[in-house]
Amino acid sequence: MNNSIFTIVNLPQVDSTNNYAANLLKNMSAEQLCNTVVQADFQTNGRGAFKNLWESNAQKNLLFSIIICPKVYAENQFVISKIVSLSIIDYLKSKNISAKIKWPNDILVNNEKIAGILIENSVTGHKISSSIIGIGLNVNQHNFFGDFKASSISLLSNNQKFNLKKELMFFLDFFKKWINFCSIDNQIIVDKAYFENLLGSNTFLNYREKNTEFQAKIISIDGFGRLVLETAEKEQKIFAFKEVELIL
Ligand code: BTN
Repeated sequence: MNNSIFTIVNLPQVDSTNNYAANLLKNMSAEQLCNTVVQADFQTNGRGAFKNLWESNAQKNLLFSIIICPKVYAENQFVISKIVSLSIIDYLKSKNISAKIKWPNDILVNNEKIAGILIENSVTGHKISSSIIGIGLNVNQHNFFGDFKASSISLLSNNQKFNLKKELMFFLDFFKKWINFCSIDNQIIVDKAYFENLLGSNTFLNYREKNTEFQAKIISIDGFGRLVLETAEKEQKIFAFKEVELIL
């Protein structure tokens, strides 16, 4: 028996679950596809943020894309990023793993990346008509070769091996809870939770802007999802994504 609101499509191999979801949306309406989850055992062209590749060994990690039809205004679309990050944080907490969000939506444990999120929204009029939420969550992989340090749930749980299908359903339970918080009425709850789980909120860390390094703490995320920093000299600086880099 399956009481889930989600329809799961399992694929042994695909170029990218986000691409697959986007193709589904070309052939069917968003209403028909809401809450469809496309999961793959392996991606031949897994996509990361900014045209990076997302590499994952076959059958080791969770690679999936969720299609949602949130009732969110385009200008407020960063809320989707927030609730997805918070779902992963809560799911990892249930596995006794304390993770942090590296703004805007990398999920780190001890400064090592455990999950990445690639959100692709379609806007109709002023609203988001559909959102493809791609998530790569490292579960059973032990060795990583990439530009950044990575970790996995197994590595952080005495090398236990996890059943990927079951873990996907556990994760979706947390996601189902947070998705209800997308509406503007819940903005304060979402913003507070996101800020509390953010790496560098109220803590001085090192940042790089172009070639200049400085120390700053995050004092807020503005309505557009931009990072608001306060430097050690009490100067406020606002950055859009990629305008500043956190040095870890
Ligand atoms: C990042 O660069 O941090 C985002 C990585 C997102 C990877 C996931 S894996 C499932 C989905 N399909 C893709 O091609 N990318 C996302």
